[in-house]
Amino acid sequence: MQYPTIIVTGGAGFIGSNFILDWLEQKRGRVINVDVLSYAGNLENLKSVKDDPNYIFIRSDIGDSKIIEGIFSIYKPSAVINFAAESHVDRSIASPKSFIDTNIVGTFNLLECSKIYWNMLSEEDKNKFRFVHISTDEVYGSLSLNDPAFTEETKYAPNSPYSASKAASDHLVRSYYNTYGLPVLTTNCSNNYGSYQFPEKLIPLIIHNALSLKPLPIYGKGDQIRDWLYVKDHCSIRTVLDSGKIGEVYNIGGNNEMKNIDVVKLICSILDEIKPRQDGNTYESLITFVKDRPGHDKRYAIDATKIAKELNWFPTETFDTGIRKTIQWYLDNQKWILNVSNGSYKDWIKTHYS
Ligand code: NAD
Ligand code: TYD
Repeated sequence: MQYPTIIVTGGAGFIGSNFILDWLEQKRGRVINVDVLSYAGNLENLKSVKDDPNYIFIRSDIGDSKIIEGIFSIYKPSAVINFAAESHVDRSIASPKSFIDTNIVGTFNLLECSKIYWNMLSEEDKNKFRFVHISTDEVYGSLSLNDPAFTEETKYAPNSPYSASKAASDHLVRSYYNTYGLPVLTTNCSNNYGSYQFPEKLIPLIIHNALSLKPLPIYGKGDQIRDWLYVKDHCSIRTVLDSGKIGEVYNIGGNNEMKNIDVVKLICSILDEIKPRQDGNTYESLITFVKDRPGHDKRYAIDATKIAKELNWFPTETFDTGIRKTIQWYLDNQKWILNVSNGSYKDWIKTHYS
C-alpha cells in the first residue's frame, strides 16, 4: 500500500523517532511529526532528517483539536500512527494526571479529528486510510511464572496509572472502529530498548549510571521479568499498516524474557569487556537494591504468533545482539545523553531515588 503522507504523533520520543528515521530511510513518503515536546521529546533525535523535504515537524499537543484538525485539512494524510503518550510507569505513580490527559483525552481527540476528516474523504481514500494505535503489553496486567504468555484474547487487567490509561485508549480506539467504522489497528508491544531511549527507563539508566560510576538501582530483588524488543524491530510494524486487518489487535514481542537482575548483569559484563573501569572494579559492584515499585508487575510475556502467522513479522535481533548495539550506541553518543540529562532530568532522579 502507498501512504504518500502520514502523521506520526510523538515522533520526537524514543520509538517514534526511530520509526520516522526508518520510514524516511525506506523512502516511504512524507511524514508529519506532531509532538508537544514534553520532557521525553527530543528533536536532536531527528537532526539528520530535519532538512529532508519529506519531513515536517509541528509542535502540538494531540489534545488540541484546532491544531490537529488544521493539520488534517492542510496535509491530507492517508494514515495516522499514534505513538504520543506519557510512557513512564514510575512517573504515572508519582503524578498520574498527565497520563489521563495525553493517553486518554489526547487519544480521544486524535480519534475524533481522524473521524471527522475520514468522513469527508472519497470512498477510495476512505478505504485506504488507517489509524494505527501503538499500545503496550502492560494493559494485560501481570503474569505468574508458569502462566502462558499474553495473547490478543487475554483479558485486560492494568495495574498502574500508565497501563490503565493505555488500556482506556485501546478501548476508545476499538470503539471508533465498532461504532463509526474508522479503520483502526492496535499493536500491543513489549518493552523496547535501543538508541534514543530516555535514561529514566531501565536499560539506558543502567548504561548511563554505569558509565558515570553511579549506583545501578534495582527495584526489590530484581526478579521481575520483562520481554525485550530491539526498537528497530518494532519499526518494521510498517507491515501492520501495509497488511494488517482493520479492527484487529496484534501483539508484538521480542521472544526475550529476562529477569531485571540478569539484564543489568549482562550490561555490566559487556561494559567490563568493551570499556573496563580504570579502577579495576567490575560494573556489577555498582548494583544497589532499592525500594520496590508499588504494584510492581511480576512478569510480562508476549505470544506473537498471530502477527508472525498473519503478517509474517518476526524480530530479527536476539537480546545479546540488540543490547550490544544499544550499549555501543550510548558509548558513541555520550553528548546526546549529556544533553538530555539536564535540570528536570536531574530533579526526577533526585526525587525518585532519594
Ligand atoms: P517516549 O516517552 O519516549 O515518547 C513519547 C513522545 O510523545 C515524546 O516525544 C513526547 O514529547 C510526546 N508526547 C507526550 N505527550 C504528548 C501530547 N499530549 N501531544 C503530542 N505529543 C506528546 O515514549 P516511547 O517509549 O517512544 O513510547 C511510544 C509509544 O509506544 C507510547 O504510546 C508507549 O505507550 C508505547 N510503548 C512503549 C514501549 C516502550 O518500551 N518504550 C513499549 C510498548 C509500547
Ligand atoms: P522500565 O524501563 O521503567 O519499564 P516498565 O516499567 O514499563 O516495564 O522498567 C523495566 C523494569 O525494570 C521494571 O520491572 C522496573 C525495573 N526497574 C528497576 O529495577 N530499576 C529502575 O531504576 C527502573 C527505572 C526500572
